[in-house]
Amino acid sequence: MTQNFFAPCPRGLEAPLCDELKALGAEDIRSTDGGVHFSGPGALSYKVNLHSRTASRVLWRVAMSRYNTEQDIYDTALALPWTEWFDVTRTIRVNMAAIRCPLRSLDFATLKIKDAICDKFRQEIGERPSVDTHAPDIRIHAFLEESQMTLYVDTSGDALFKRGVRQYTNIAPLRENLAAGILILSGWKPGTPLLDPMCGSGTFLIEAAQMTLNIAPGIGRHFAFEKLHTFNDEKWQSLRNEAIAAQIPVTALPIYGSDLYGDELKAARLNLENAGLLDAVTIKQANVLEITAPAEQGIMVANLPYGERMGELDEMRELYPKLGDVLKQKFKGWNAYLLTADLAMPKHIRLSVSRRTPLFNGALECRLFEYKVVSGSNRK
Ligand SMILES: C[S@@+](CC[C@H](N)C(=O)[O-])C[C@H]1O[C@@H](n2cnc3c(N)ncnc32)[C@H](O)[C@@H]1O
Repeated sequence: MTQNFFAPCPRGLEAPLCDELKALGAEDIRSTDGGVHFSGPGALSYKVNLHSRTASRVLWRVAMSRYNTEQDIYDTALALPWTEWFDVTRTIRVNMAAIRCPLRSLDFATLKIKDAICDKFRQEIGERPSVDTHAPDIRIHAFLEESQMTLYVDTSGDALFKRGVRQYTNIAPLRENLAAGILILSGWKPGTPLLDPMCGSGTFLIEAAQMTLNIAPGIGRHFAFEKLHTFNDEKWQSLRNEAIAAQIPVTALPIYGSDLYGDELKAARLNLENAGLLDAVTIKQANVLEITAPAEQGIMVANLPYGERMGELDEMRELYPKLGDVLKQKFKGWNAYLLTADLAMPKHIRLSVSRRTPLFNGALECRLFEYKVVSGSNRK
């Protein structure tokens, strides 16, 4: 039977997510700000959870109706067959998001949904599930608009950027799905040399290596759909086995990372080791101002420090023009994709920007600046 789904993603990555969904066989793909609606058989959610690099979650739509009051919300939630979907021993949590919702308290509306689910269980089997706001088995997401409510059961559990391989991070690590999305937006393709000269915990490097070696992002973790009564283990195992069979054995790849600080490199090394990718990627400690291009042509990606530490923004603004010089002098033939929340960066780097893409790193508004480094890239 066809089911409806919604996959939220970092804002700015809707287009690459649509492409991924299309490739995975989704239908009725419809993009909206911060996510993509799609439909398909129930097991499509397994596939998307396993293979999507850009989605943050996969939500299964279980109700959509008009509402005026909290009672309407309660009634819609009560009418759903919750006991058919999961066991009373599963813990639950209700998440709420709203746009132009006229109700006075979203907390109260959230509580009404939780009450309806518990009341339904009591009516049907005489017991109710417990709430666990920290690590629930089952998350229910409500989305309230002006007069329409939508309820979803979360098939992912932990957000999908938690791939289960990156365990060590220092300051300001990039979310894995944003890193993957930036690689896709840059047009980088497996086999093209890739350099992240500010690699931190190695997020871009791991994503790029996994993409090259066909390692499904979700292969090492569990998902909430495994806890639903509708779970088809046979189907899931066959999807996992297919994904494992498609993996390419680890080999040295033209993927390079460096960072100024030893602690960051240590984190990157541990994460690569944990992902089984240490032999695929070359990392070294270096100042971005002292590196040389590891190949004649390639793609450079970096997420520049955001100025979180005291004085860091001033340091960065001193660094930008020097970084611009490094690009001009040593990276002819390369395209660079620099992510930053400092919108004044292009003014200081003194190179012609060929594209700027708005992206959100969590709540932080950023831009991905594209620089095509050819002779004469420097701004007049
Ligand atoms: C925002 S973090 C990058 C985080 C990384 N993308 C991740 O996911 O973990 C910026 C990185 O730039 C590094 N950095 C700062 N100044 C540098 C310099 N002059 N040369 C090389 N790396 C530098 C910092 O050590 C930090 O790891």
